[in-house]
Amino acid sequence: MVPDGIRQGRGHNANGAFLAGMAMRITETEIKEIIKLLERLGCSVGVETVFRDWCECFTLALANGCDLLHGPVRERREKRYLDIIGKYKKDAGLFPEMCAHLTNAFEVDPWQDHLGRVYMECFGGNKNLGQCFTPQGVCEVCASTVGIPEKGKTSTLYEPACGGGAMVIAYLKACHLAGYDYQRLLKIYAADLDSLCVHMCFIQLSLLGARATVAQQNTITLKTFDVFKTPMEMLWPALLCGNPEPQTDDTAAIIKENPWLE
Ligand SMILES: C[S@@+](CC[C@H](N)C(=O)[O-])C[C@H]1O[C@@H](n2cnc3c(N)ncnc32)[C@H](O)[C@@H]1O
Repeated sequence: MVPDGIRQGRGHNANGAFLAGMAMRITETEIKEIIKLLERLGCSVGVETVFRDWCECFTLALANGCDLLHGPVRERREKRYLDIIGKYKKDAGLFPEMCAHLTNAFEVDPWQDHLGRVYMECFGGNKNLGQCFTPQGVCEVCASTVGIPEKGKTSTLYEPACGGGAMVIAYLKACHLAGYDYQRLLKIYAADLDSLCVHMCFIQLSLLGARATVAQQNTITLKTFDVFKTPMEMLWPALLCGNPEPQTDDTAAIIKENPWLE
């Protein structure tokens, strides 16, 4: 558990710089631990495979964990989770350990593309898909040009090539600092062609409590392969009117919910 004052963005007092420095040190340690565990698990199957498997398992666990109506998509995802985790046998326990390190990194420093950093440090990006995740400072400059919605008003955000979600995270930071309650008021739609990016973005937006739909989709043709809703978005209908919805992979329904995609 991290003391409140250490969380970055909250240390607005005489110790602000000291606390921000401490947060950075803690985050560094958590990220290094994740990379160490990935390398340990990667001895036999390769580090990239482990990273992909871990991100997918974390995504499936988060998505299925808050699907209150056990429908067919949940069943399919449960089976997929068991197939992946089954490969790791006695080492499967290291997966939740990495989840804990990532959660801790978000706890101390919520406004970073932590998984993008792990990815770039371990593999240097995927040149075929133009994958080179944008540094946080650049994302923050871009976010500052978008404008923050009026306090108390609902709004939407569309990120058509989300990668690990760095641009969205920077925008959420801007909203948070301006006092805009993005967790309740901002509905996000993010897409990427690469399933790994979809999983990375989904995990990070879930940990930030954002209401997001993250699709594996070709943004140009709108051909959709998979769709995930973050816990906050999944539970939204239940929170509002006690009327939960099951997970769906019905592209037409998703597009109907997000009409600006048409
Ligand atoms: C340069 S990265 C930027 C990622 C993120 N926006 C950032 O700033 O860190 C471009 C992303 O576009 C994705 N991409 C490439 N072609 C795409 C397509 N046709 N539809 C959806 N995503 C695509 C890649 O997989 C990659 O993650």
